Amino acid sequence: MGPAEAQLSPAADGLDAAERAALEARGLRLDGGRRAVTVRVGDTLAGTAIWQPLAFESAELGIAAARIETIEAWQGAAPVLEDLAARAVSDMKDAGVALATCRLPEARLGAINALEAVGFRMVECLLTLARPLDGAPKMPAGIGLAETDEGEDCARLAGRCFTADRFHIDPRIANSAADRLKESWIRNSAAGRADAMLVARQDGRVVGFNACMRNGPTAVIDLIGVAPEAQGRGHGRALVEGALAHYAASGAEEMVVGTQSGNIASLALYQSCGFFIRSSQFTLHAHLGENR
Ligand SMILES: CC(C)(COP(=O)(O)OP(=O)(O)OC[C@H]1O[C@@H](n2cnc3c(N)ncnc32)[C@H](O)[C@@H]1OP(=O)(O)O)[C@@H](O)C(=O)NCCC(=O)NCCS
Repeated sequence: MGPAEAQLSPAADGLDAAERAALEARGLRLDGGRRAVTVRVGDTLAGTAIWQPLAFESAELGIAAARIETIEAWQGAAPVLEDLAARAVSDMKDAGVALATCRLPEARLGAINALEAVGFRMVECLLTLARPLDGAPKMPAGIGLAETDEGEDCARLAGRCFTADRFHIDPRIANSAADRLKESWIRNSAAGRADAMLVARQDGRVVGFNACMRNGPTAVIDLIGVAPEAQGRGHGRALVEGALAHYAASGAEEMVVGTQSGNIASLALYQSCGFFIRSSQFTLHAHLGENR
């Protein structure tokens, strides 16, 4: 399926006005193309699963992708979760979704098991690390904000340095598609999605990038990469220290980053730069168009 065919146009969901109001009263969002499935126990609303099409992933991977954002049971936990997982999958299949994703804290084992029972498989354990910006290092030599004409260098680099993320790890997704997604991601970052794009230069050439976002007092390392041939020479550390220096100077209070538990190089890097593990989540994928 090509990117143009991967767009979803889900029909309106079957919620009645009272159910919609009940979900919204729980603070659950139903806008932005989201669709909800619900389960009742007797007359009582017992839980919901809410999913949303993912436009960027769909366009870049060339398959219709969506994410289950919420799967919650308020009554009769295990059977309700199993029912919700089955209904969400059926609804996504009807809408033409080919790749479904869900990310849940490790402690949500009941929901994880319910998703596994309908074909989801774990693809990564995502660790979130954080550190306060007190005592941040100085801006290292060789690190600076990307010039406008360096955005494309960063994008090309991003298209060849990732191996551990959920798209590259999933054997059912072609590495070429996963590379293309990372390349587009950084192209978008350079075009304004990122709050700051730091680069490492060697002999006047970009050898690494660190695309960061800002959310109030929190700065986030969104995506960082060093050219494979330049790894192990201190550029990654300099890029992280550069981000710490940049955001300490601009008044942010903490820096946050996510990485896979199997990405030993980046975990070692963040921990040696003063980050500590804050939380862990499992990411699951289901390829809905395939026989399992
Ligand atoms: C993670 C990455 C950015 C590190 O960049 P780098 O330039 O190779 O790292 P550095 O040379 O600055 O090393 C810094 C520290 O990282 C750790 N590290 C780097 N490579 C490592 C490896 N292969 N194994 C274990 N630790 C490693 C070490 O703690 C090292 O500290 P040291 O200087 O005391 O040896 C780089 O490996 C990369 O681009 N990986 C692919 C993209 C990616 O996975 N990005 C992270 C997404 S969250």
